[in-house]
Amino acid sequence: MRREAIWTEKYRPRKLEEVSGQEAIIRNLQSYVKKRNLPHLIFSGPAGVGKTAAAVAMAREFYDDTWAENFTELNASDERGIEVVRNTIKNFARTMPIGDAAFKIIFLDEADALTDAAQSALRRTMERYSGTCRFVLSCNYSSKIIEPIQSRCSVYRFKSLSYDAIASRAKYIADMEGLTLSEDALRAINYVSMGDMRRAINALQSAAVLSNEIKPEMIYEITATARPDEIEALIETAM
Ligand SMILES: Nc1ncnc2c1ncn2[C@@H]1O[C@H](COP(=O)(O)OP(=O)(O)O)[C@@H](O)[C@H]1O
Ligand SMILES: [Mg+2]
Repeated sequence: MRREAIWTEKYRPRKLEEVSGQEAIIRNLQSYVKKRNLPHLIFSGPAGVGKTAAAVAMAREFYDDTWAENFTELNASDERGIEVVRNTIKNFARTMPIGDAAFKIIFLDEADALTDAAQSALRRTMERYSGTCRFVLSCNYSSKIIEPIQSRCSVYRFKSLSYDAIASRAKYIADMEGLTLSEDALRAINYVSMGDMRRAINALQSAAVLSNEIKPEMIYEITATARPDEIEALIETAM
């Protein structure tokens, strides 16, 4: 098989400038990197628009080759519970940053899944470690984050992606993969993506299993007959 990886992973942005759309947010994140300083952040918005991607790309730029040691990604809705999340945060936060970094970065996905009590505990943890750690909390709705946390964070609202944002990334990936992608096919990808880049990339990859020449019918057929999670499974079995 010529497809060697899930494209959403293969084409996960490595630099902030690769994050499509979200220009105003990205400019701010770039200026944090430049100034070597960072407040706590809240990234809110729908799925698949680059919240995790932006956090990872920012960490890569911040730390260069020590990014993996100084950055960690956790899911707040971890079914093992908030205690596991807090212990993981404590273990990560209590050791010094590696290299010349002044702080580490903790990315906490689905922070709005936490109960208010768990968020209060999180707030205390954030305060306790704010000397050596910055938190980036990701959520669908910032209104579900308790006020005492919100007031300690800069809030960035990620938008559902525009046609231009989806199309430019899809074109880039098609180029890298040697695919022909007509204007019609781009419109189809944009239509089925509903502003979600993960969906757009999955639609492109599953169509590419069929042919190097991507036609709108292929995109519509795949997405009409399969749910997004089925499409991901389809790609995996084709590899
Ligand atoms: N704005 C974007 N620019 C480029 N790629 C993106 C963008 N948003 C999402 N992606 C792609 O989709 C995948 C999932 O995106 P992710 O950042 O995890 O979404 P979110 O965290 O907002 O749900 C990423 O690995 C990346 O390949
Ligand atoms: Mg995410």
